[in-house]
This record gives sequence, structure tokens and C-alpha cells, in this order.
Amino acid sequence: METDFIPVGAPVHRRRLSRLETALVARRNVLEIIPALSYRQPMVSGEMLMRWHMLADPGGMKRVMLDNLANYPKSEIMRRMLRPAIGNSLFNADGAEWKWQRQAVAPVFTHRNVVALAPAMMATAERVSARLAAADRAELVTEMLTATFDVICDVALSGREHFDGTTFSAAITRYFQTAGRASLLDFLGVPQWFPRPGELLAAASVRTMHDMVAAAIEARRQETSGDADDLLGHMLAARDPETGQQMTEEELVYNMQFFIVAGHETTALALSWALYLLAHSPAWQERVRAQATRQLQGRAAGPQDLDAMPLVEQVLEEAMRLYPPVGLLARTVVAKDQLCGRTVQSDDILFLPIWALHRHEMWWERPEAFDPGRFAPENRGKLNKYQYLPFGAGPRVCVGADFAMMQARIILATLIQRLRFTPASPGPRPVMMMTVRPEPGIFLNIAPI
Ligand code: HEM
Repeated sequence: METDFIPVGAPVHRRRLSRLETALVARRNVLEIIPALSYRQPMVSGEMLMRWHMLADPGGMKRVMLDNLANYPKSEIMRRMLRPAIGNSLFNADGAEWKWQRQAVAPVFTHRNVVALAPAMMATAERVSARLAAADRAELVTEMLTATFDVICDVALSGREHFDGTTFSAAITRYFQTAGRASLLDFLGVPQWFPRPGELLAAASVRTMHDMVAAAIEARRQETSGDADDLLGHMLAARDPETGQQMTEEELVYNMQFFIVAGHETTALALSWALYLLAHSPAWQERVRAQATRQLQGRAAGPQDLDAMPLVEQVLEEAMRLYPPVGLLARTVVAKDQLCGRTVQSDDILFLPIWALHRHEMWWERPEAFDPGRFAPENRGKLNKYQYLPFGAGPRVCVGADFAMMQARIILATLIQRLRFTPASPGPRPVMMMTVRPEPGIFLNIAPI
């Protein structure tokens, strides 16, 4: 085997940053606020207006995400960034409001239903593979976003007549670059009622997205047979088990908006980073290709093929270890508690830097090296469930994880069997606004096999 590829990391500041520096850095790249110590210690604490902690410890993660979940609701700063676009929908809600929405959407993501959605994923895999086969060189993030957007439109809205993908994607990017930037004013302690410029700038992109989603919902209501077995169908039919209440128009728009954005952006990033890693690791690329070719014999991958190609899954898992699409989460502490033997107090802010957890010296051997072998069946059992959290954990674990993995495995297996990827430009920089994106993109040379 070739020597391990050490892919690009995030800049790490070795000295403590001032409040202003932190604010500026966070606007540029959230990953840069993670202190060097967070890659070596279970928990790092500090004070900047309020007490904060960075937790990168599997035991602590279990306490926050499972054992004492009610003590760690999502932080108001994060909620505030997301609220203009997704209101108090599933991802942002808490308590009873969260519970009934989770119950309403869970049925569409059962394994049986996800398998039933595979034909849409396979059709997309065929399309993107044909597109790339015709190109000598491509920017892979754009390509993967187009592919996963197709799939989410099929499963969320039974088609995309009401969606111009280009307009919608441009609005998403604008939103991430405006509201998605941590607000300087939050870090400087300016009161919450004071309008944030990012939010004002984001308003137009939010309106574009909401109008498109609302049009799709309205079209479904007009259809006489409005019982399609897709996400919107389930949400239109859902009732609160206790009150019998249905989703309001606004709740429907907010939830669909979240599903469309979260459902394709994250998966596209996992795929793009996986292709970047394979392009730089020819030996791994050959091994994955050999397995895919043996199983598929030229056709697109389907759900029945996936277990016979474990390397495809291992590569995606390793890609999401090194580049977790959701690289950092934030919670608020409700009441005094102990984490990693340290006391956290009411109103402290608790960061969960998934990025640092996945590159932590205490939990991983050679954390910076690309090695899909970590996730081989014989090694997987050695991992603590809470040291690898691309999808979160506990009751609030990602509802779309199974869906995302099936889609990513189908697309990656189909592509790698048919196409050879090599780097066409120096490594990209990982930049986190809301998700960990490669800047300025992933440019690869492509040659049909
Ligand atoms: C590679 C792809 C994906 C990644 C890495 C990812 C990551 C995550 C993470 C880390 C969380 C937990 C957030 C927290 O605890 O604060 C989450 C929650 C969630 N994800 Fe995903 N996600 C992915 C794909 C999807 C897809 C495809 C969908 C739906 C179509 C989806 C829908 C959701 C929803 C609704 C929640 C909130 C669940 C709740 O609070 O009950 N995600 N996701």
C-alpha cells in the first residue's frame, strides 16, 4: 500500500485569541475558533462575555446527547442563525414541539421506505456519471450538489416542476454566506433585539426559497390524488398524537425548506470530499474500483449491491471523519452539571466540535491520515460510538442518516467503477459557515475507464 495521504486540515491558532479576533475568525471560518488544545484534551474552557466550553470527549458527548439531553438544548446563537429560514421546525424545535414533528417525519425515513427511494438515487447516479464521462475536468461540489438536489426533489416533492435548481442553489449559497456567518454582534455582546446585518441580507434569499417551496406545497394541495407517498405527503397527513393538530402552512414551509437544504447539501459534501481523498490516493481508488467492478459489472449500483462493496462505505465514513459536513454544534447549559470531571454552569455555552473530536490525538491513531481501514469490520468494534459523530447521536440523531448513506454509496460506487479521478488543482481549504465546504471547490481530472 502507498504511504498514507495526509489531506488538508484547518488552520489552528496556538495562542488565545481576543474577543474581536475570535469574532472575525468565526465569520471567516468557524473551524478556526477551535483552539489547538481541543485536538489534545477532552475539554477546553474559557470566558468571553459568557463562559464557554469545547467538548471533544466521547463520554462527555454521550452525556450531552443522550444521558442528560434535556440539560443541553440547542444554543440560541445557532437557532437564531437558522430561524429566518427554518423557523421552529424539527431541527430547531425542542420539547413537545420537537417530539410531534419528529414522529410525523420518522415514517418516511424507515429503512424500508429509504430502499423504496433507491430508483431515484440510481437514476441520478446514471445522469451524473454520464455528465462526468463527457468532461475531462470538473468541479465536483457543483456536480454533487446537482445530483443530490435531484434526489431530494424526488423524495420531498415527487418531482421538481416547481423548482429551478439553479435559482434555489444560488439562494442557498447566498443564505450561507450571509445569515450563515456567525454574527460579529453576537460575539461582541450586542443585545439580541438589535438587527443583525447578515439577517437583513439573507431575507431576500429566504424569500426566494420559501416562495418556491410554498408553490410546490400549493400544487400538491390542488392535485386531486394528494396522497403521494413522499415526505410532503406524510407531512400533510401528520397529526399530533395528543392534540390531533396538523402542521400549519408555515410549519410545512419551514420543514420542507430544511429537508431540501439539509437533505442534499450535506450528502453532496460527503461525496465531494470522498472523491478528493480518492483522487489523491490512487491505491485506495483502485481497491474500491476493483470491488465495485466485481459487483456491478458496469451497471449502476442498487441497494442490493451495497453490502458486497464495504470499501465504498468505509471511504465515505473516513471522508466524514476528516470532513464532517456538520463540523461544530452548539448547546446551552440549563443547570449545573459535570462534564469530564469539570463543572458546567447554567447559561454556559457548550460547543461540540465534531471536527476536533474526529481528529483528536487521544481517540485516533495518526488522526490526520486518510485511512478507510479504520472502518473495516475488524476495526469498527474498537471504536467508541461517541468518538465518531457525523450524524450526531441519541434522540436527536440525524433522521436522514440512512437515506444519506444509501444515496452516497449508490452514487460513489457507480462513479468510481466507471471513472478515474486525479487532482487537477492544489488541495482546497475546508471552510465552515453552516457546513464544511471545500473552498474554492474540488477540481479533478476525469478519465473514463
Ligand atoms: C451526510 C449527510 C448528513 C449529515 C452529515 C447530517 C448531519 C446531521 C447532524 C450532525 C444532525 C444533529 C444536529 C444536532 O444534534 O444538533 C442532524 C440532524 C438532522 N438531520 Fe441530518 N445530516 C445529513 C443528511 C440529512 C438528510 C438527507 C436529511 C433529510 C432529508 C437530514 C435531516 C435532518 C433532520 C430533520 C435533523 C434534526 C433531527 C432532530 O432534531 O430530531 N439530514 N443531521
